Amino acid sequence: MLRSLIRTRSQASSSVVTMSSITQRGNKRLLSETAGSHSRDKKILVLGGNGYVGSHICKEALRQGFAVSSLSRSGRSSLHDSWVEDVTWHQGDLLSPDSLKPALEGVTSVISCVGGFGSNSHMVKINGTANINAVKAAAEQGVERFVYISAADFGVINYLIRGYFQGKRETEAEVLDKFGNRGSVLRPGFIHGTRQVGSIKLPLSLIGAPLEMVLKLFPKEVTKILVIGPLLIPPVNVKSVAATAVKAAVDQDFASGVIDVYQILQQGH
Ligand SMILES: NC(=O)c1ccc[n+]([C@@H]2O[C@H](COP(=O)([O-])OP(=O)(O)OC[C@H]3O[C@@H](n4cnc5c(N)ncnc54)[C@H](OP(=O)(O)O)[C@@H]3O)[C@@H](O)[C@H]2O)c1
Repeated sequence: MLRSLIRTRSQASSSVVTMSSITQRGNKRLLSETAGSHSRDKKILVLGGNGYVGSHICKEALRQGFAVSSLSRSGRSSLHDSWVEDVTWHQGDLLSPDSLKPALEGVTSVISCVGGFGSNSHMVKINGTANINAVKAAAEQGVERFVYISAADFGVINYLIRGYFQGKRETEAEVLDKFGNRGSVLRPGFIHGTRQVGSIKLPLSLIGAPLEMVLKLFPKEVTKILVIGPLLIPPVNVKSVAATAVKAAVDQDFASGVIDVYQILQQGH
């Protein structure tokens, strides 16, 4: 049993070596072929695909061979990575829902990463109204699945940035109402990884990764302890969030509804 496990692992690693020696486009085609026919008929629109989480989701969806487009106010990503060329970039504002309609043509799944901070009224608008507009437009257009990147409850912090959480929860309700078991809401806590700000790459995992390792050892129940509990929610890697979001967007068997940090850690392996 152990021997066959070692053999399987060494076969897998040799195929990785072979794959790393081929070009990125060839690599993508190979992944797409192994993913099977499901990747050929799916078209994913990432709202906010030029942001931190959105860009990792675009990259992951392309890696799996899906057709990927993005919509945001500034349009094209400012990153100089090769995957950027493979995304169709749309410019639009979710607060002007008509600007979203052309981008929805032929789209089978939408993943929304649109959100942000500011005054309470701005946070309700950007985390709520803007996303609710997107959910309604996608449902009207017959999009099959909708995934929303929301956020975990943070106890007293919820009160300090109440517009943010009000907006998030209103959008969640709209996703579940319009998409039912074809809608998913991901609730990560702190998302670590490499965040590009201008020309600077911020290595958020330097803090996030060790915290994730330690905090995920605690039982989930500790996060319910009054006041300090939410501080014990494990951070999650942006790659796990991206993998879970893409799975939720294309896999009919994926559990719909609210997906918490622990499920993201499990799904995003
Ligand atoms: N980062 C974290 O640790 C974390 C943790 C928990 C939850 N989340 C949630 O995850 C989501 C993504 O977070 P992030 O850190 O990736 O944020 P981000 O980098 O600021 O990305 C936000 C994206 O939304 C787009 N956007 C903003 N307003 C828009 C509008 N009116 N119409 C169209 N696009 C708009 C932005 O592009 P333009 O400016 O070009 O429009 C950008 O692409 C957010 O909903 C956030 O609340 C993040």
